[in-house]
Amino acid sequence: MDATVTVIDPVAALAELAPIGADPVRGGWSRHLLDDADRDMRAWFVRTAGSLGLTVETDANANQWATWAPEGATGPAVATGSHLDSVPGGGPLDGPLGVVSALAAVSRLIAEGHAPARPLMVANFAEEEGARFGVPCLGSQLLAGDIGTERVRRLTDAAGTGYPEVMMAAGYDPTTIGRDAARVAEMALYLELHVEQGCQLAPLGHPVGLATSILAHGRWRLTLTGRGDHAGATELVSRHDPMLVAGEAIRSARGHALGSAPETRSRATVGKLHVVPGGSNAIASEVRLWLDARAEHDADVRDLVARIVSDVEAAGLAEGCTVTVEEESFSTRVAFDQDLTDRVAAALAPGLGDVPRIPTGAGHDAGVLAAHLPTAMIFVRNPDGVSHSPLEGAAEPDIRTGVDALTDALRALTSERGT
Ligand code: GLV
Ligand code: MN
Ligand code: MN
Repeated sequence: MDATVTVIDPVAALAELAPIGADPVRGGWSRHLLDDADRDMRAWFVRTAGSLGLTVETDANANQWATWAPEGATGPAVATGSHLDSVPGGGPLDGPLGVVSALAAVSRLIAEGHAPARPLMVANFAEEEGARFGVPCLGSQLLAGDIGTERVRRLTDAAGTGYPEVMMAAGYDPTTIGRDAARVAEMALYLELHVEQGCQLAPLGHPVGLATSILAHGRWRLTLTGRGDHAGATELVSRHDPMLVAGEAIRSARGHALGSAPETRSRATVGKLHVVPGGSNAIASEVRLWLDARAEHDADVRDLVARIVSDVEAAGLAEGCTVTVEEESFSTRVAFDQDLTDRVAAALAPGLGDVPRIPTGAGHDAGVLAAHLPTAMIFVRNPDGVSHSPLEGAAEPDIRTGVDALTDALRALTSERGT
């Protein structure tokens, strides 16, 4: 037993984070890469991991790492964690639950006197949601070398501020971003705990589940350009109104997703529009619209997007508007490591029964890392499945059960001898 370490209570830790980035306009929480809220979240990570005696560092890609490597812990580490950024007006758990649970689990292992055979690392991955620069899992993709650094250096946020300026303002060197082979090699495996997104566990009556796969998914930016004009003085027949084309895009996204074969589990969403100039008495000159499309396999997503774009192009032609389409991101289907998932399942308390294995439609850093090392995920029941919304939640007993499960899994995995 190590009585000098205070065991982190996950519910109390989430309550401590609740004021940070609370969004008075949208509701929920807005914490975006290196804005004030994200920096406060990062400071909390440093403080909390430091209070456990962990070594805390930030890598060149703005990911934070806290390492527990007591004497006797050798070889590649067991890594865990999640992210502390959010979507605009998101929920309290998507991201923070995984980081809080990871630090809570480490605090318990230290307090109980566990002697790990391998180091244990906790990650806070940067810009997982891609809410600021449009590319999801930016920190883990950079780390893994899955995205070109030149492309990242050209990214700008909604205010037109470039990624390099944001990094420099926070004290990072944007010339050193990119693949971090040493850090990837330092990890033997990655196990991420996350709040469930979608509602599969509640009907099954289980507080936790294990992930099997992630749908292929991507984001496309459509720029619809017409002719700005007066809402009252312009005859209907002489308009070139990109809002009509946007309407077609929104309807067509739902229609084609619904019309896809059920086994493709297709879904398509327009969740963000930018209208120029945005006056209530002006015909828009341009609409930028973001299409999020997901399906079981990469080809299903490509096919779905092609059908939607074809409708939008036809609507553009009819309205005398031009349509341009840019792919902002594409994430291929992920199958989690079955052997690691079996080892995690074997470590869980017998009282949890036969823990369900479920697929997800949400993207994760664990999905990015899956192409480079064995990864697995634990989901904590979300009673009504809502996420990316202030209504997202999990019951306190389930949050604690999630930490129990993660602690048991990390204890077992760090007891395996590293090579
Ligand atoms: C991230 O949560 C995503 O699936 O978009
Ligand atoms: Mn999310
Ligand atoms: Mn997440």
